[in-house]
Amino acid sequence: MDAFNLLKADHRKVEELFQQLESATGKKKLDVFAQIKTELDLHAHIEEKVFYPALEKPSETHDLTMEAYEEHEQVKTLLRQLARARTVNDEWEAKAKVLQENVEHHVEEEENELFPKAGDVLEDEEIEALGMRMEEEKTRKQRGSSKSSKSSKKAAGKAANKTAGTKKAAAKAAKRVSRPSGSTTKKSGSKKSGKKRSGAKKR
Ligand SMILES: [Fe+2]
Repeated sequence: MDAFNLLKADHRKVEELFQQLESATGKKKLDVFAQIKTELDLHAHIEEKVFYPALEKPSETHDLTMEAYEEHEQVKTLLRQLARARTVNDEWEAKAKVLQENVEHHVEEEENELFPKAGDVLEDEEIEALGMRMEEEKTRKQRGSSKSSKSSKKAAGKAANKTAGTKKAAAKAAKRVSRPSGSTTKKSGSKKSGKKRSGAKKR
C-alpha cells in the first residue's frame, strides 16, 4: 500500500472510533478511548519516523510538515491527559471533543494540502517505499519490539537520511518480493507494492 492510502486508511479507522466514542457511555467510553489512543499513537509514530522526515526538506512541504509535528504534540498531550481518567466527567467529555476536533483538522490538512504537495515532490516509487516502511514500522511497534524513539526529531533525522536512498529501499523491497513468501501481512504488503512498482511508474 502506498503511503497516502495507508495513512488515509488509518484516518478512516480513527474517524469511525470517534463516532463510537460519541455514542458510548461509562466504562465503554474509556475502552473506545483506549483504542483511539493506541491508533493515534501508532499513526503519529509512523508519520514522524518515516513520512514527515521525507517532507521536511522540500520547500513545498516544509511548513505544512512543521505544523503537522506541532499538531501531533497537541494531540499527544490531550491523549495523555485523557488517559489518566478513571471515570468520564464533563471535563473529560470536553477534552475528548477538543481532541476529536484537533484530529479532524489535522486529517483534513494532511489529506487536502500536505498529501497533494507530497505527491508533487516525491517520486511514485518513493511514495510506495514510504508506505512499505510505515507498514513495517507499524508491525514492529505493534509487536512491541521497537525501541521507542527518545526524541522524534532525532528519529526524524535518521529517517530522512534513509529516505534519501529510496532507490535502495525499493531495491531491497524488490529483493524481499522475490523470496518465496508465507502469508504474513508484512510480506503480502511488500509483494503488492513490489508488483505495482515493477508494473508501471504511474500509480
Ligand atoms: Fe498526522
